Amino acid sequence: MKKILIIGAVGQIGSELTMTLRNVYGNENVIASTRKTLPSDKVKESGPFEFFDTTNREDLYNVCKKYGVDCIVNMAAILSAVGEQNPMLAWDVNMNGLINVLEVAREMQMKQVLVPSSIAVFGPGTPLDKAPQETVLKPTTMYGVTKVAGELLADYYVRKYNLDVRGLRYPGIISNETLPGGGTTDYAVAIYFEAVKHGKYTCFVKEDTRLPMMYMPDCLKATVDLMQADFSKLKHHSDFNVGAMSFSVAEMADSIRKYMPNFQIEYKPDFRQAIADSWPDSVDDTAARNEWGWKPSFNLDAMTQDMLKVIGEKHKLGLI
Ligand code: SER
Repeated sequence: MKKILIIGAVGQIGSELTMTLRNVYGNENVIASTRKTLPSDKVKESGPFEFFDTTNREDLYNVCKKYGVDCIVNMAAILSAVGEQNPMLAWDVNMNGLINVLEVAREMQMKQVLVPSSIAVFGPGTPLDKAPQETVLKPTTMYGVTKVAGELLADYYVRKYNLDVRGLRYPGIISNETLPGGGTTDYAVAIYFEAVKHGKYTCFVKEDTRLPMMYMPDCLKATVDLMQADFSKLKHHSDFNVGAMSFSVAEMADSIRKYMPNFQIEYKPDFRQAIADSWPDSVDDTAARNEWGWKPSFNLDAMTQDMLKVIGEKHKLGLI
């Protein structure tokens, strides 16, 4: 790949992925973009940046032409919780944005497209423990509906046009740089920030809620490893399960107490509980392990230690 366009470069994953891909492929070769939010200084100053709306195909096409883009990474999405507040917005951004990305990539004969999927493709009919790669996909959120449709659409472009489209079903991603925006798994990030800032957290899902999760360094590694995998060896394309950890909120609180014994937590479940309950506890990622060598590095305690250290330093410096 010579020129990579990242759409959604100010989001939780997009902002860190921009910097990772700039390290791998060179600053000038990774164009960051977003609809209207200003990117971090790091993203803005280290390489090219563009404002445009992916739901406008002509604007997307013009940016790709301007830079000679041959790979698009589409991280723009409306997540599960915000999607339930505004289902039409979720449909518009997640579906119309995606079809524009696929069409522009097809027309311009691009080398690769990365379209993220999510554990939100699963629903109440999916086995709770180690959700299989091939299983019932009947989600109950608009976000999940768009992600199932997105996986099918991506596979259609692979089959029909021989376009190289890849994607992972991201679990809840935990990070300390850019906050997630409007997902159900956001509690697993907020708990660390609130622990450092206030020593306590009020959680919007119950203590026994258990979901698949992953620390950002593993998420970045999984993304880059899949992008660099040999396409001819892939049997799946846009729907890889990737597992790393699975824990309840009570287990997270216990992990935090190993480093902050006075940490307190209370529970006030809201509408997001039903979304969390519709997703599995863990996923079976054998396909990702076999087809492109996926292997996570972080477990709960290693992540907790790192999160509290990094967030603690930011807090001391008055950055949060
Ligand atoms: N983190 C997402 C959400 O909670 C799941 O992919 O919506």
